[in-house]
Amino acid sequence: MCWSWSEPGVGSWAIGSQSLTSPFILAPMAGLTNWPFRRLALSYGAGLTVTEMVSAVALAHRGPKTVGLLRTDSRLERPFCAQLFGKAPESLAQAAQIAQELGADIIDLNFGCPARKVVNSGHGVALLKDLALAESLARAVTRAVSIPVTVKTRLAWAPGWPGVFELAPRLAAAGVAAITLHGRYGTQGFAGEADWAAIQRLAENSSLPIIGSGDVTSPEEAVSRLRSSGVAAVMIGRAARGRPWIFRQSLEVLGGGEATPPTWEERLAVALRHARWLFEDLGPRAAFPLRTILMWYARELRGAAALREAINREEKVERQLELLEISFREGAYQR
Ligand SMILES: Cc1cc2nc3c(=O)[nH]c(=O)nc-3n(C[C@H](O)[C@H](O)[C@H](O)COP(=O)(O)O)c2cc1C
Repeated sequence: MCWSWSEPGVGSWAIGSQSLTSPFILAPMAGLTNWPFRRLALSYGAGLTVTEMVSAVALAHRGPKTVGLLRTDSRLERPFCAQLFGKAPESLAQAAQIAQELGADIIDLNFGCPARKVVNSGHGVALLKDLALAESLARAVTRAVSIPVTVKTRLAWAPGWPGVFELAPRLAAAGVAAITLHGRYGTQGFAGEADWAAIQRLAENSSLPIIGSGDVTSPEEAVSRLRSSGVAAVMIGRAARGRPWIFRQSLEVLGGGEATPPTWEERLAVALRHARWLFEDLGPRAAFPLRTILMWYARELRGAAALREAINREEKVERQLELLEISFREGAYQR
């Protein structure tokens, strides 16, 4: 199916009953795309955000930690897309119902995670070794919920194996509303390059909207992938870390303009907002993830290495933020 993103100007597209106004999506990233990060991406116009992957078995037990992964604000995150992983049709279907009850507008199924722990237990991209099971999981979920169901997957388990080209028509027949394809094999992890020619082939040959994922590093690349590959939307993952404005910039480029770089004041304000929202969720425990997160925002400062060391030594969020502010405000570090 072809989508008309080739003309400047923003249109809209849909996943089943859910219409979306931007074709640039924040990729799900375990440990990262919690509500604070998704909220920032949304504030910069991301068309869709997806939760981190949530275990179907754990969700069925309704443990507070697992339910917490589905925290959102329904005034700000619509549609709300919850990603689930599981390998048993019944428990995945049950978890999807719970996610729907908790406010999900879209259920995304993870058939793509290559992490050893996930694959060794038969989850994530290991499901591509058994396409009949993958299909039956999707069918069980589409039958269990009244909201659109999507699947995020990779090319195949390994080169030479049947994979997404065989699976896509089966998923369409099972009632799946869209497929996200990360253009790598399961056995590849993150090595090599994402195969956008294969993503384009799927987009040209599938009846479903295809979302392309892999190695988009700039707003210009997001737009050129969107225009040249015929996908309905492009996902941005690693390049959005510390750069949530990439969604605004991608829309600027799509509209025929140039990407406006954020000012240093904006970068600092966004970093502080990210930290504040994380602190609201985690309290003093936020100091640990903030060691990494604050440096995403500060990595382009001169003297970033010294700042990283100083922030790593601090156990109090307040002190970490003071150090960050001094670095930005003194301007001494700016490249
Ligand atoms: C730290 C990290 C965690 C990820 N976690 C998930 C996940 O929970 N679910 C998922 O479908 N993909 C996950 N991914 C894959 C991304 O969604 C995306 O497909 C991949 O990173 C390629 O896109 P990128 O080059 O824009 O980062 C993760 C990637 C990274 C780097």
